[in-house]
Amino acid sequence: MGALKMRSSLSRFVAGVAAVLWIGCGFPSIGAQAQTPNYRGIGRSPTAQETQAQDFSISVDGKELPPGRGTAREGAPLFAQKCAGCHGPELQGSPLGPALMGGKGTLTTTRPVKTIGSYWSFATSIWDYINRAMPRNQEGTLTHDQVYALTAFLLFRNQIIQEGDIMDAQSLPKIQMPFRNGFLPQRLEDLPDPRKRGCRIGHCP
Ligand code: HEC
Repeated sequence: MGALKMRSSLSRFVAGVAAVLWIGCGFPSIGAQAQTPNYRGIGRSPTAQETQAQDFSISVDGKELPPGRGTAREGAPLFAQKCAGCHGPELQGSPLGPALMGGKGTLTTTRPVKTIGSYWSFATSIWDYINRAMPRNQEGTLTHDQVYALTAFLLFRNQIIQEGDIMDAQSLPKIQMPFRNGFLPQRLEDLPDPRKRGCRIGHCP
């Protein structure tokens, strides 16, 4: 009885291994088919317009910035219409999007508020980010002039430029961001020793 039971569980085991091998061999080809664009009509290649905003990045020196221009005055109504719903009318942030101003002086506290004004090092990154990623869920719908105007508006509200200053491929890379020199190379031995008594999240008494 015991031997019989052993034999039947062994044959069940062998059958199981065979099934795993069969499935293992069978699935890769199905998987490969699913990745082709026209598999059962699901998915399609993005259009050139859809990839345009993504396929375009601006380095910190701004040398790839396209022609176009905008001021904070032009950006204000655009912001109210396309951005304030998530970032708040006063750029204070909401559950749908982070604050886009404020936070100065908080970076050395245990609750740093990282915004464009308190943390970002290059104005060219603002242009790049808005052009590529905003408004969320409608990425790539802004014209280059609109991106310049919105960038100018955010810089103005962070008290970095004046309301009428024209932002374009020449002026934007010249903006000195408040936190530009905030990232300093630090020697390991100068960092606080986290094992010291009373240290919390990198801050020691
Ligand atoms: C549907 C909501 C929504 C809308 C509309 C929207 N944003 Fe955003 N935005 C977000 C969210 C969410 C993030 C944070 C994304 C992340 O960190 O991954 C963000 C991040 C940003 C950031 C980076 C902030 C930082 O400090 O990291 C900028 C700049 C920005 N948005 C600008 C804009 C502008 C300009 C518009 C209007 C053209 C806009 N957003 C419209 C939701 C939105």
